[in-house]
Amino acid sequence: MTPTEAKTGGNSVPIALDEIIALCKRRGFVFPSSEIYGGIGSTYDYGHYGVLLRNNVKGEWWREMLSDHEEIVAIDSAVIQHPRVWEASGHLSGFTDPLIDCRTCKLRFRADMLEDAQCGRKPSKHPGEYSECDLTEARQFNLMFETHVGPVKDSASVAYLRPETAQGIFINFKNVLQFARRKPPFGIAQIGKSFRNEITTGNFIFRTREFEQMEMEYFVPPDEAPKWHEYWLDERMRWYTDLGIRPDRLRLREHGPEELSHYSSATSDIEYLFPMGWSELEGIANRGDFDLRQHAKFSGEKLEYFDPDTDEAYVPHVIEPAAGVDRAMLAFIVDAYDIEEVEGRKRTVLRLHPRLSPVKAAVLPLVSKDGMPERARAIYEELRGKVAAEYDEGGSIGRRYRRQDEIGTPWGITVDGQTADDDTVTLRDRDSLEQIRVPVEGIADRLAAKLGEPWGSPKLG
Ligand code: GAP
Repeated sequence: MTPTEAKTGGNSVPIALDEIIALCKRRGFVFPSSEIYGGIGSTYDYGHYGVLLRNNVKGEWWREMLSDHEEIVAIDSAVIQHPRVWEASGHLSGFTDPLIDCRTCKLRFRADMLEDAQCGRKPSKHPGEYSECDLTEARQFNLMFETHVGPVKDSASVAYLRPETAQGIFINFKNVLQFARRKPPFGIAQIGKSFRNEITTGNFIFRTREFEQMEMEYFVPPDEAPKWHEYWLDERMRWYTDLGIRPDRLRLREHGPEELSHYSSATSDIEYLFPMGWSELEGIANRGDFDLRQHAKFSGEKLEYFDPDTDEAYVPHVIEPAAGVDRAMLAFIVDAYDIEEVEGRKRTVLRLHPRLSPVKAAVLPLVSKDGMPERARAIYEELRGKVAAEYDEGGSIGRRYRRQDEIGTPWGITVDGQTADDDTVTLRDRDSLEQIRVPVEGIADRLAAKLGEPWGSPKLG
């Protein structure tokens, strides 16, 4: 594109998930896993820009948890834990989905989601709608992945891949209390992989069998639990909007009594308006003292806080904001995805919050001659230690801008003929398409300052 390009306005047409999937593959964010072997259902690999975006999402979560809250500490617990953990937590008996099999088409469906399921016959209908459908009664199916620890494969060696990161926090409550010298309210935060043998997958990286969670358990005096629940509902909504999600695409939905998990006395979901409709992005639960009491009972350890002010011990209650890295990433991409027409040509652009963008600045020589590549390369070398930058000299400048637009790079730095005369470059803004001339000197500080500024989605108008 040229310096004269003009923004003609964002689109307001609904975004299809297929467009997002295509962009993610085309630009190296997400690939179907094991693709050369035909793929394995609902499992994805993250490419270079996907890794960078995920790291930024996780970095922003850690920033909120640790930099903004001195009472929160970090932990990284094991994926495979003692099997008694899952007995105590209730996952062995209760982490199940009701399943129905069709004896005719041999497919398996979630009993509570038959209306969303497609039968195996053609044309596809809902299970049970053909006269040939032969459905079994619903049976409970445990979602945990089972494995064996050690060389002997018997019942004594059975272990599980964790279905949530939360339990790794509860079983370390005593360690943290002792070594981090915290008193309620205090939190323990963790990011890590979780595994669930989900029956109903699909919708790209929204629901997969292997995914990453960002969970924080906030231990509070029992009578303060409702107050802290409200607090974390507000904080977590603000986290998403501060990172550019449009407020009208987010909502809080309180769970009804029949929907609450076995451990929860109150849960609200933060939902996002995904292409497939309003769906859960994050759950914020009041878990009461369920987990600490269960682990105390099963392990025989005292899991309490002794309050020196009152000379009494009590079991703290827990508020848990539980988010998914993959779902958050999908929501950020969907919210940022935009198509507009610029000078008669379609432009696809990811209007990501600059702090989330995988690459902050692309350094581009206008043409591959007259010393421009050498100068651009030198600027890039200087910049890359300070902000995530990329150097690109392949293809026309318009194509290179479009590539950077699609990965969400907020700034383009172009070295042109004038650079050799006065050591200035053009700084192109991804969203406004404005290009201004700036001195090369101080450009890293200029970008670092911009990254610290508040940002709102240009799609809000
Ligand atoms: N410790 C509570 C807990 O795990 P959850 O609602 O089951 O609660 C929390 O999970 C978050 O983890 C969800 O809001 C979602 O973002 C993410 N998540 C859960 N299952 C997932 C799956 N199969 N694929 C991708 N993300 C998932």
